[in-house]
Amino acid sequence: MKVCVIIPAAGSSSRFGESDKLSQDLGGRALLIRTVELFAKREEVSWIIVAGPVEPAGVFAAFKEKYGPTLGFHGAKIVEGGRIDRWETVKNALAEVPEEATHIAVHDAARPGVSKEVLDRVFEAAGTLSAVVPAVEIGATVKRLAADVEEVVPEEDDDGIADLILGEVGKTKIKTREVVETVDRKNLVEIQTPQLFEVDLLRRAYAADDLSGATDDASLVERLGEKVHAVKGDVRNLKVTTPADLKLMRAVLNVKPPAERPVHKRF
Ligand code: CTP
Ligand code: MG
Repeated sequence: MKVCVIIPAAGSSSRFGESDKLSQDLGGRALLIRTVELFAKREEVSWIIVAGPVEPAGVFAAFKEKYGPTLGFHGAKIVEGGRIDRWETVKNALAEVPEEATHIAVHDAARPGVSKEVLDRVFEAAGTLSAVVPAVEIGATVKRLAADVEEVVPEEDDDGIADLILGEVGKTKIKTREVVETVDRKNLVEIQTPQLFEVDLLRRAYAADDLSGATDDASLVERLGEKVHAVKGDVRNLKVTTPADLKLMRAVLNVKPPAERPVHKRF
């Protein structure tokens, strides 16, 4: 197995807030670097491609300058990602996958907590299956909501006199959505990365005319009518989306935030 790993790192971290989540300190290294390291030490992995952000102008050059030396040390190549959707980023990176690769793994840069055990399971299963994804069972009760948002006025706010004076503006309203159904969670799972594919299969999936709506790579393989198999993932393989996730990730990896480390060990 000669695997080329694609690490999509071109997102805008919009739900993270002001700063870029991939550059956050994770035990003295940037989050992105921690993710890349996990693959750099695997013997199945022959190439690593990191797809960086291209918008706004200048951001790609800055990305290269910031991570180029460390990524180069890990043997990773930096390419331009897509502008809006993750699939654009993966599509761009696919064009850079070497001919000799037998498999392609796609792993979110924002998942630095994937364990050796999960990687072992994914790589091992891909020896016999052409598309493998890690999955975790859903523990929560899952419901589907109506698309429409309704506004209700709390009873104590239903003040006749105030209404006469202020009209609708004076009221506090609660936004609600009606529950349409409770989804049977049997066999329902949440899918993670890395997702590992035979190279020709993923190329075929990404050659489709319309890639819109694809939030992971395996769904494009499913659109071809080809089989995808799941192995056991791990709840600790969480995707850092918000600052609260970063705190959780530090707990998972047992690293302290920079302010709690000695000054000479800060990032
Ligand atoms: N990603 C990417 N190219 C995009 C969008 C996302 O390479 N056009 C990457 C992100 O960098 C991240 C992974 O895909 O490693 C998962 O995406 P997500 O967690 O949604 O990250 P962001 O898109 O950066 O965050 P947000 O959606 O909050 O803006
Ligand atoms: Mg996103």
